[in-house]
Amino acid sequence: MSKYLDIRPAKTPDINAINDIYNHYVINSICTFQTEPETVESRTAWFEAHGERYPVFVAEIDGEVVGWASLSKYHPGSSAWHTVEDSVYIRHDMTGKGIGKVLLMNLILEARCLGYHSIMAGIASDQIASLKLHEDFGFMEAGHLREIGYKLDRWIDVKLLQLLL
Ligand SMILES: CC(C)(COP(=O)(O)OP(=O)(O)OC[C@H]1O[C@@H](n2cnc3c(N)ncnc32)[C@H](O)[C@@H]1OP(=O)(O)O)[C@@H](O)C(=O)NCCC(=O)NCCS
Repeated sequence: MSKYLDIRPAKTPDINAINDIYNHYVINSICTFQTEPETVESRTAWFEAHGERYPVFVAEIDGEVVGWASLSKYHPGSSAWHTVEDSVYIRHDMTGKGIGKVLLMNLILEARCLGYHSIMAGIASDQIASLKLHEDFGFMEAGHLREIGYKLDRWIDVKLLQLLL
């Protein structure tokens, strides 16, 4: 049976799936520096704080959420920034199938529609898939922060990538 990939704005019932996808990486990966799983309560607050200017999308295959992506404030607390930060997380058993590419493309189009000037991404320097994904869409290195994080028993560099829209 053929499977259909759908990208749509996230809704409240998606919060658990979004959180489960993310928490896998909290425990197992350095792609996020978070070390304690996100609670459903804090994920709900995050979702409610996003709204129209900071959209959250999910990728769904045959009704099942298999990934999500969002635009977030780059510097919370300041309204002068015309830059947003992206997040893209694919369910761990569904990576490498092109879903990240579709979600990021959708996010870039949405950022343009919303009038933002640039998108930032902070990516651990050995996260090859994420770096490649962003570079394929024209993100350029804007900085390299050395040994700024420590997780899973090692120091981690972070590359800042930026796409001017
Ligand atoms: C990074 C991530 C979002 C990419 O999404 P994905 O659906 O797995 O990636 P895609 O299948 O769309 O592939 C996108 C590009 O990344 C590259 N890529 C994907 N997986 C790769 C891997 N394991 N190794 C090297 N490159 C890889 C490919 O070059 C691909 O482009 P191509 O098909 O034109 O060659 C996803 O793997 C993920 O959620 N990883 C963990 C969380 C994370 O790091 N998120 C980013 C932080 S914001």
